[in-house]
Amino acid sequence: MRLVLVGPPGAGKGTQAQFIASNLSIPKISTGDIFRANVSGGTELGKLAKTYMDRGDLVPDEVTIAMVRDRLSEDDAQDGFLLDGFPRNVPQAEILRDMLKEWDQKLDLVLELVVDDEEVVRRLAGRRTCSQCGRIWHVEFDDKKDDVCDACGGTLFQRDDDKEDTVRHRLEVYQQQTAPLIRFYADEGILVGVDATGPVEEVTQRAMKEIRPYA
Ligand code: AP5
Ligand code: ZN
Repeated sequence: MRLVLVGPPGAGKGTQAQFIASNLSIPKISTGDIFRANVSGGTELGKLAKTYMDRGDLVPDEVTIAMVRDRLSEDDAQDGFLLDGFPRNVPQAEILRDMLKEWDQKLDLVLELVVDDEEVVRRLAGRRTCSQCGRIWHVEFDDKKDDVCDACGGTLFQRDDDKEDTVRHRLEVYQQQTAPLIRFYADEGILVGVDATGPVEEVTQRAMKEIRPYA
């Protein structure tokens, strides 16, 4: 199963990706997570990506595409994968299509997580991430009173790009650059929209109902 998750910042891509990927036993590949790991590791890629991420802009395509090509070439991605955060514009989608074709592969399905801007701002303002296991929490919805991860005991942190101004800019970037992908994948006949509001488990169930026929 080769699957892509698209949706605005805060739609719940990372949250759903962790459950869907484990349900399907395929690797979850998140370009945002790979960039953040490079930022905290102080690599050259991390230093470059940070300047774009802090503003809420996209990292240049050539950098992102090379990184994804490397990751998709690894053994564990040969029989399937779930991409979270990539592609993020039409040029990235075209290159992904060509890259997969080279390997005699193609995408099975693109799931669009649908949620409105107001909910996005609420979700991102309360998001906390575990510095140890990467699990995503929400202060209000998960009733987190301390900054300790209930899964592993690690310390939770707030992402630098979750400040209100940056969130607003990320939403603009989504509308301008990422939203056209919806049309691109609809034209390819592989797009399915999923209502991403309501409890996390319900969203996962809705998503799995769409995915199962292809798995
Ligand atoms: P990335 O990490 O991909 O960020 P994003 O797309 O903005 O998405 P988020 O991670 O903010 O949100 P999400 O949809 O995963 O929501 P989450 O599950 O956390 O990218 C970051 C940056 O990296 C970009 O700005 C760019 O600079 C760069 N980058 C990445 N990919 C790139 C690419 N391909 N090209 C160029 N640059 C790239 O949920 C949010 C919160 O809501 C959480 O607290 C969660 O607990 C809560 N929540 C989730 N679901 C629910 C629910 N159903 N009900 C209530 N709360 C919920
Ligand atoms: Zn943890």
